[in-house]
Amino acid sequence: MGYTIAVAGKGGTGKTSLTGLLIDNLVKKGENPILVVDADANANINEVLGVDVECTIGEIREEVSQREISGNGFPGGMTKAQYLKYRLNTAVTEGNGYDLLVMGRSEGQGCYCYVNGVLREQTDSLSDSYKYLVIDNEAGMEHLSRKTTKHIDTLFLVSDCSRRSIQAVGRIKELVKELNLKVSNIHLIVNKAMDGQLHEGVKEEIAIQGLNLIGIVPMDEMIYEYDSSGIPLVKLPEDNKSKLAIKEILSEIEI
Ligand SMILES: Nc1ncnc2c1ncn2[C@@H]1O[C@H](COP(=O)(O)OP(=O)(O)O)[C@@H](O)[C@H]1O
Ligand SMILES: [Mg+2]
Repeated sequence: MGYTIAVAGKGGTGKTSLTGLLIDNLVKKGENPILVVDADANANINEVLGVDVECTIGEIREEVSQREISGNGFPGGMTKAQYLKYRLNTAVTEGNGYDLLVMGRSEGQGCYCYVNGVLREQTDSLSDSYKYLVIDNEAGMEHLSRKTTKHIDTLFLVSDCSRRSIQAVGRIKELVKELNLKVSNIHLIVNKAMDGQLHEGVKEEIAIQGLNLIGIVPMDEMIYEYDSSGIPLVKLPEDNKSKLAIKEILSEIEI
């Protein structure tokens, strides 16, 4: 069983950017194989990592549903479950030191309960053969409980420097409890901090929410520059301040 890291927090706080830097750090340390799961409906971690994705799980779901509606069945006499497994494997994008699976979304009106169940089982069993499973989540945690039955070793909650964003991750922490998700450690990362410092009010809110602050990532003009120019963030120089901050955070949890 591999080590599972999930990242959650309000939209726009930097989850995907920091997840990308985290993966880059694991790859450079030779901590492979790594399975990256992009669980955001607006999938975009491939841009941070600099890889092209051919196909998403949502598209597979759609295709399987279309095959059933049209009554064409599955190629080579495969059963639905066999076909899903085969297609899941084709949906794995090979990156440099990691594999990437993009959940995407389904546009159709169909009922996907069966397919979702099969896909969840198969994704979970696929991830067993990796040393690390890294999940870039969308804002909440509700859908994660539907997409994986995995035990999460470390959940990073990402917030920017606003009290509201800290409150939002505080609610995610509560939700994790309510949903009974299996999470061993929850750590807060505050991103986009001016000069890498936190305002007293923000520190106060972190205490109110009972969050465990593991690290601060500064407001970084290089991230802005790379993103605006369409350059994958993993290409940031090794002495980039955000890269160093992520490295420090991972060493805090002994990775
Ligand atoms: N430390 C940072 N400094 C400056 N800009 C950042 C930083 N982290 C993220 N960003 C920018 O914030 C925006 C949202 O980041 P993203 O990673 O997509 O957030 P999320 O996945 O939480 O929605 C992007 O434009 C990204 O370039
Ligand atoms: Mg994102």
